[in-house]
Amino acid sequence: MAKTRTIFRCMECGHSVPKWSGQCSGCMAWNTLVEEIDNAASGYRLLGLSQNGNVGTASDAPVGAPNMSAVQPLTRVSSDMGTPLPTGIAELDRVLGGGLVPGSVTLLGGEPGIGKSTLVLQMLASKAREGAPVLYVTGEESAGQVRLRAERLRALEENIGIVSTTSLSEIMSHMLDLRPHLCVIDSIQTLHSPQLSSAPGSVGQVRECANQLVAVAKATSTTVVLVGHVTKDGNIAGPRTLEHIVDTVLSFEGDRHNILRTLRANKHRFGSTEELGLFTMAADGLVAVDDPSGLFLGDRRQGSTGSVIAATLQGHRPLLVEVQTLAANAGTSNARRSTQGMDANRLALLLAVIESSLGISTHGVDIYANVVGGVRLAEPGADLAVCLSVISTMRRIPVNENMVACGEVGLGGELRSVAGLERRLAEAARLGFTTALVPESAPWMDVPITVLRMDTLEDALDSVCLI
Ligand SMILES: Nc1ncnc2c1ncn2[C@@H]1O[C@H](COP(=O)(O)OP(=O)(O)O)[C@@H](O)[C@H]1O
Ligand SMILES: [Mg+2]
Ligand SMILES: [Zn+2]
Repeated sequence: MAKTRTIFRCMECGHSVPKWSGQCSGCMAWNTLVEEIDNAASGYRLLGLSQNGNVGTASDAPVGAPNMSAVQPLTRVSSDMGTPLPTGIAELDRVLGGGLVPGSVTLLGGEPGIGKSTLVLQMLASKAREGAPVLYVTGEESAGQVRLRAERLRALEENIGIVSTTSLSEIMSHMLDLRPHLCVIDSIQTLHSPQLSSAPGSVGQVRECANQLVAVAKATSTTVVLVGHVTKDGNIAGPRTLEHIVDTVLSFEGDRHNILRTLRANKHRFGSTEELGLFTMAADGLVAVDDPSGLFLGDRRQGSTGSVIAATLQGHRPLLVEVQTLAANAGTSNARRSTQGMDANRLALLLAVIESSLGISTHGVDIYANVVGGVRLAEPGADLAVCLSVISTMRRIPVNENMVACGEVGLGGELRSVAGLERRLAEAARLGFTTALVPESAPWMDVPITVLRMDTLEDALDSVCLI
């Protein structure tokens, strides 16, 4: 193999230089240079893999030359992106739209302690029970520590191979030897390629290692899961820089002191990114939440002002969540807008609509808006509940605790219908809610709940005695 040469490339402008420096001479940005292998000089060969992932090469092709591409009629191209195979972990399969596609590379990101190693070990055990060889590469914990966890999780399976290493080339040769159906790297930040001089965990190393693993995954149809640590500000060398390299980016979140864990896809080449996976952390591992609405509403204090139940849709699953807001005199004209679980800009917009269509000003009032349970409101269906919650807290009048609200609020204060309303209301009825406040334009629905249809935000507030 030719001796590799490395260069430093600017992550902002792409300019490359042979030596590292703090400032890019191309665009003058600071700290943007990242080490990478100089493909032009050294070729991109390690263990017989070419950059595009083909195993072996035509003997006459010079090392480093791109493989010749072939033009074919578009009509002859297979649209098969690969069939997802279930992981056996239902909440994970929900988020992935069925499972993991062989040959795909998935990044599982999350803060330390959130449960990434737990989830991957449960995945490995599930796959191993199907009789397939799987490989767990641990760069952080010893094999003994992993065994202890496996005992606790009841994931001690013969077919799980474990290797404790941080060497990229060792991992790649194990993958080529063993041909595991699933290979988990825990974590990508610990890996090290000797071809780069930078330290493990640096952006250059993480990118190079991920690129090489993507190539082996594609060439051998091995499903690869990379675990990546993300800190609170999300700004470490690693996962963020990998988003373009991998097929799927999953993010595992939740309060470390809270039992609830949410799993989402931020990027998914093979399907939707709308679905939400919900787990709780138990002594014997991550357990699917069977009745998330029930769990979210379990701690609700009935009859408190500013509390309104929104009938939301998270992907295909209807989910009832409690929206809470609190209003406090700011004492200055610079009032605070603080949100948790909802977009701050959306709240600001709804406050402006409340002011212009109802004449209720929140000027000089701090507003704290919160979605209980760590769920994020990503669709406008919760607008009406947020508005009701704000007025309820401003007026100190609680809303009917047996009511749910669902609808988008337009700029003129008009209510608009949202997708999947019947399913949302069916969930509300299942949980014992008796009334649903919805837009006038909502379709006819066969649900055992009293449906109140309103044209505008003002009518809606009037109907629940808030104005
Ligand atoms: N003995 C135990 N009993 C119950 N839960 C445990 C035990 N040990 C660890 N946990 C749970 O597992 C979490 C750590 O999970 P882990 O998979 O190691 O996280 P990560 O890999 O994301 O850092 C802890 O925060 C705790 O909730
Ligand atoms: Mg871990
Ligand atoms: Zn630059």
